[in-house]
Amino acid sequence: MEKIKKRREGKVIFSEYTRGAGINKLKEFSREDVLFELKESGLKGRGGAGFPTATKWMLTAAAKSDKKFVICNADEGEPGTFKDRVLLTEYPELVFDGMVIAGYTIGAKLGIVYLRGEYEYLMKPLQDYLQVMKEDNLLGNNIAGVTGFDFDINIVMGSGAYVCGEETALIESLEGHRGEARNRPPFPVNTGYMGHPTTVNNVETLAAVSHIVIKGGNWFKKVGTDKSTGSKLLSISGDCNKPGVYEVPWGTTIQEVLKLVDAKDTKAVQVGGASGICLNKTQFDRTISYEDVATGGSIMIFNENRDMLHILKNFMEFFVEESCGQCTPCRIGNVKMLEGIEMIERNDYTFSYINKLKGLAETMKVASKCGLGQSSPNPFLSIIENFREEIFNGSHGGRNGK
Ligand SMILES: Cc1cc2nc3c(=O)[nH]c(=O)nc-3n(C[C@H](O)[C@H](O)[C@H](O)COP(=O)(O)O)c2cc1C
Repeated sequence: MEKIKKRREGKVIFSEYTRGAGINKLKEFSREDVLFELKESGLKGRGGAGFPTATKWMLTAAAKSDKKFVICNADEGEPGTFKDRVLLTEYPELVFDGMVIAGYTIGAKLGIVYLRGEYEYLMKPLQDYLQVMKEDNLLGNNIAGVTGFDFDINIVMGSGAYVCGEETALIESLEGHRGEARNRPPFPVNTGYMGHPTTVNNVETLAAVSHIVIKGGNWFKKVGTDKSTGSKLLSISGDCNKPGVYEVPWGTTIQEVLKLVDAKDTKAVQVGGASGICLNKTQFDRTISYEDVATGGSIMIFNENRDMLHILKNFMEFFVEESCGQCTPCRIGNVKMLEGIEMIERNDYTFSYINKLKGLAETMKVASKCGLGQSSPNPFLSIIENFREEIFNGSHGGRNGK
């Protein structure tokens, strides 16, 4: 497999880190110390939803149970995302140290990596790495010489469905069931894997934790904005001369990103993967941040030669394929949106029907059971809105509607 280019040394995730340092720090750090630094850092989950990591860990730590679990979500199924693959390949120490720190903090003895099916080739090197950690007393019993600090990590292959990245579907899949989202509440922090309190965290979130434990919450929040602290790894692909994984401070504008990757004649930027939103030229001053355009890390760049309706169709075909079918808004809604796109393609549509589909898309955002159906309308709504001129009057057969 082609090596992904890491284009830029970053200030946070790609900053210097010594293997095992975060774990060894726990000799002098209590659970409360870890939680304090995490809270101070303002770290929010990097898997897309942006839930504060300190809160998630506090809730899991406070839940009463004889067993607790740490899950590293390495499903990385969002189209256009490949930054977790870079972390697992080149920085496993950051991710695994983060898992051990999580285990120590919430009181878990087992961590499970749910590894994207397509990353099977990573299984062996990662297992070899875990073996080295065991030999160095960074895994196993009395870790780092702390009596009673026992923790182990298993790696489990993912099942190859996009929905299995959703944390409750992931847990179902780990338990050997079909990957379908659970009703919430109860949340995994109380009732997670095998019914026990579980923290599910993204690969990048766990990597950030390792740095925070060593360098402090204050150090972390010096980068980024007030509401979006730290940096973000972006997987940048599409029409640019320097695609790859970049670390940028939150608050970076789309325009700055385009410059970084040497993109020319850009017409559209899809932020946040297929389930994200698509911006046009007038919106390139918007910032990558929780307060403006949030992203789990995928940025797809499209130049003037691209057909936006074709791109939208591609995204919606993906969602029709990947909807688990459990809830009606998502099962039917994605199909209806795709049919609408095909009607536009054939120039056989009315604006009143397209408006109805927009209403359906808005309904899906609130009525779907999980994040898949809640976010799959994003490309439909944003492309129809932001590329209206091209889609309805443009160069694709003179679609003029009725
Ligand atoms: C359809 C769908 C797919 C998802 N895929 C992933 C994924 O591949 N990796 C990930 O970390 N989070 C994914 N998430 C988000 C997870 O449900 C969850 O919010 C995340 O793992 C929590 O970790 P964090 O707090 O560290 O971000 C997905 C969510 C949805 C709705």
